[in-house]
Amino acid sequence: MNESKAAANAAAAGSKTATLTFNETGESWELPITDGAMGPSVVDVRRFYGDTGAFTYDPGFTSTASCSSAITFIDGEKGQLLHRGYSIEDLAGKSDFMEVCYLLLHGELPSAEQKNKFETAITYHSMLHEQMLYFFRGFRRDAHPMAVMVGAVGALSAFYHDSTDITDPHQRMVASHRLISKMPTIAAMAYKFSVGQPFIYPRNDLNYSENFLYMTFAVPAEEYKVNPVLARAMDRIFILHADHEQNASTSTVRIAGSSGANPFACIAAGIASLWGPAHGGANQAVLEMLQQIGSKDRVPEFLERAKDKNDPFRLMGFGHRVYKNYDPRASVLRESAHEVLDELGMRDEPLLELAMELERIALEDDYFVDRKLFPNVDFYSGIILKAMGFPSSMFTVLFALARTVGWVAQWKEMIEDPQQRISRPRQLYTGYGPRDYVPVDQRS
Ligand code: CMC
Repeated sequence: MNESKAAANAAAAGSKTATLTFNETGESWELPITDGAMGPSVVDVRRFYGDTGAFTYDPGFTSTASCSSAITFIDGEKGQLLHRGYSIEDLAGKSDFMEVCYLLLHGELPSAEQKNKFETAITYHSMLHEQMLYFFRGFRRDAHPMAVMVGAVGALSAFYHDSTDITDPHQRMVASHRLISKMPTIAAMAYKFSVGQPFIYPRNDLNYSENFLYMTFAVPAEEYKVNPVLARAMDRIFILHADHEQNASTSTVRIAGSSGANPFACIAAGIASLWGPAHGGANQAVLEMLQQIGSKDRVPEFLERAKDKNDPFRLMGFGHRVYKNYDPRASVLRESAHEVLDELGMRDEPLLELAMELERIALEDDYFVDRKLFPNVDFYSGIILKAMGFPSSMFTVLFALARTVGWVAQWKEMIEDPQQRISRPRQLYTGYGPRDYVPVDQRS
C-alpha cells in the first residue's frame, strides 16, 4: 500500500486503531477500534471486505459483536449480569417481573404511575382471539408443547394484523405488549392441551405470575388458590430468564427481524432456536439427566462419561459460552430451589440432593475446573419447576415465556437503530469450482 493511502486510511479510522497486515503481500490496513461503555472494545470490520477483498471468519461468533446494544451486559469472567445497569441479584431480590419488563423495554425503572399503566396495558391483552382455540385443537394430542408454542406464536401474525407494521412505533409497542401478555395464556393452553384439560381463561385481577399459575393449574370444577411462595418463585424464574444479550435465540430474532419480518414471526423463530438442548432445552435435559443418574453413588460414573471425548454425554446445566465463573442466575435459583421445596414439604427431595452432590464433585474435578465449567441457569430451574408440578416438557416453554420480553426489547432496539441493515453473513467457500453439467444418462 502506498504511504498516502495508508495515511488516509488511518485518518479515516479515527484515533484508536489496530493494524492488520497481510504478510504475503505486505499490505496493511488500519481498522478503527470502538470502546463500549463496559466490556471488550471492538475492532470495526464493517469496511474490511470493501477495503481488502477478504472476509473475517468466526463460525459460532466467538469473537464477533453482531450489533451494539444498551440493554444487557455480561462479564463472563466475573459472573456478572446487568440489565440496563441493574444487577440480576438486585432485580431478582427486590423487583418483580413486570418492572423488569418495563426496564428492558424502556431503559429505566418505572415510576409508580408508569408501572401501573404498564401493568394495565399488559393485562389488557391477556386473552387470545377465540378462533385461536381451533388452531390449538389441530395439534396432535401428544405434541411437544414447544412445537405448539412455535406454531401458536407464529399464528398470532394471522390474528393481529393491526400490529404487524414494523415502521409504526405505536404498532411496535402494541405488538410488544401483546407478545408479553399473551405468552402465558398460550403456554398454559399448550399445557392444558397436553393433559386433556379445558383451557382456563386469564384473570386480570391476578398479577402476571399468579395468573400464569392459575391458568396452568386451575380446573373449572374446583376453586384454585395461588400459593404466594410459588408465585414469587415463578416471578423470580421469569426475571432470571428475561434477557441474556446476544445468545442464539436472541440473535435469531434479530436476524429474522432484520429482513423486516413481523414481530410475531420473529419471536416464533426465537422460540424455535431456544428449543435446542444446547440452549433453552437444557433445563429439560438436566432433569432427565438427574433421573438417569438416579443416585449419588452413580455421580462419578457419569462425570467420567462427561469427560470422555468418545462419549456424546455432556453434563447438562454445566458450562456456558460466556460465563467462565458461576452463572449468577444459578446462585439465585439454588436458593429458590430450597425455598420452594421447603414450602412444599419436600425438603428431602432426592433430586435436589443429587444435583448438589453432582455440583460439589464437578467443581472439585480438574476437567471442569480447567475448562471453567460451572452450573448455569438451567441446572436448578428444572428441580423447582418439577416440584411446582410442571412436566419436564414444559420447562423450555417457561424459558420462552420469560425470554419473550428480552427478544421483544432487542427486536425493538434493532428496528430503531439507524445503523440497522439486513443481516447477511458471508462464508468461506469449500465446495467445487465451476464444472460442466452432465446429463443423467451420461453420469457414472
Ligand atoms: N460437559 C462436559 N464437557 C463440557 C461441557 C459439559 N456440559 N460443556 C463444555 N464442555 C467441554 C467441551 O467438551 C470442551 O472441551 P475441550 O476443550 O476439551 O474440547 C470445552 O468444555 C469447551 O466447550 P465448548 O463446547 O467449546 O463450549 P461452547 O461455548 O461452544 O458451549 C455450551 C457452551 C453451553 C453449549 C456447553 O457448555 C454445553 O453443551 N453445556 C451443556 C448444555 C447446557 O447446559 N446448555 C445451557 C446453556 S445456559 C442457558 C442457555 O443459554 O440457554
